[in-house]
Amino acid sequence: MADVDSQAGFAYSGLFAADLPAPAGRWEGFPPHYFIGGNNDPTLIPTGALAEAAATVLAREGANLAIYNMGHGPQGFPGLRDFVAAKLRRRRGIDCTGDDVLITSGSGQGIDMVCRMLAAPGDTILVEGFSYGGAITRFRKLGLKIVGMPLDADGIRMDALETILAGLAAQGITPRFLYTIPTIQNPTGSILPLDRRHRLLALALQYGVPVFEDECYSDLLWGEEAPPALYALAPSQVIHIGSFSKSLAPALRVGYFVADWSVLSRAIALKSDGGTGALDQMVIAEYFSAHYTAHIERLTAELEDKLEVMEEALRREFGAAVETFRPKGGIFLWLKLPDNVDVRKLIAPAAAAGLVFNAGPEWSCDAEAAKSYLRLCFAMPSREGIEDGVRVLARVCFEQTGIPVRSANVENAR
Ligand SMILES: Cc1ncc(COP(=O)(O)O)c(C=O)c1O
Repeated sequence: MADVDSQAGFAYSGLFAADLPAPAGRWEGFPPHYFIGGNNDPTLIPTGALAEAAATVLAREGANLAIYNMGHGPQGFPGLRDFVAAKLRRRRGIDCTGDDVLITSGSGQGIDMVCRMLAAPGDTILVEGFSYGGAITRFRKLGLKIVGMPLDADGIRMDALETILAGLAAQGITPRFLYTIPTIQNPTGSILPLDRRHRLLALALQYGVPVFEDECYSDLLWGEEAPPALYALAPSQVIHIGSFSKSLAPALRVGYFVADWSVLSRAIALKSDGGTGALDQMVIAEYFSAHYTAHIERLTAELEDKLEVMEEALRREFGAAVETFRPKGGIFLWLKLPDNVDVRKLIAPAAAAGLVFNAGPEWSCDAEAAKSYLRLCFAMPSREGIEDGVRVLARVCFEQTGIPVRSANVENAR
């Protein structure tokens, strides 16, 4: 037997596959000013009601935890699938039943499934010019060629989409899918109007491109109603995913996938995790079947209020030096600093000051085009935390770039 130095760690690291991602760092906890990621407000998790729901479902069905998927098969807990179908019908105009729903371990799992199902390295896909960083990272890791679709305040510009599709067709390229977050776009917070939804579907049909609709934030609208989901308008053209991460809690890791059986059956075949946590599914079904509307009303009212706190703090600290893109719901604010500020240069000094933010280039198909943009999550920090953090951001930005010139910080520092 070969000698192994038991103090030197794993003896076979040299055998790790060559194409593994870079190793993860040890978790060192949250810095004091934490504005990244898609976390929720800890004070708005209904812990008491969730505990009651957990007690109820364990008493009623806990014995079935002895069986993978509780004996209900790989699509997920029927009570939750029925809840999802009813919610989608009521709020998103989608005509489906629990049989059309697959519960996933977070909606990110749905993104992986669609990539695996429809695309291979070297294939071209269409993605909103600014989009969810987690999806962009996945697409890049898979070696997909990402073509960005230009956005305006209402989402994808249809004239630009038409030009892109025609240009690709002229080169003999049919994108493998079009990934869109039409309802509370991440990161810009826009809602695609109905006429653009119809136009998008018509163009996608004309050019033979499946539409992959990610509605991670569509529960968290304020004020305005959103037009029906793309899936509601053309179920045979669209794969739809959603999540309980934003409407309830991301640590539960529960999302859903809705599509025609020909797609769903492929997704089920790709689900290799032995089933999404059944207790989480049962608790969500139990709690949301009784409290969804009240919970969402309270959550969105608080989130909109915290957004206002952030906007006000940005106005105070940055004045005219910041352009904010008011989201129509959700948990993020997308903002732009003057063109001569490259936010990538702020990352290290901000981290040294205990502040982290999502730099625009990571949320963009074209890093350079987003070099002056950043995304701040207003859900997790407290109101005071938002104000303190924006003050620190303004100070760091001023120290590095001389902007904002008229910051309250500058005056305070004098
Ligand atoms: C647009 C979008 N899709 C999907 C996800 C993945 O969410 P989860 O896997 O927690 O459901 C996120 C997370 O922030 C997101 O912003």
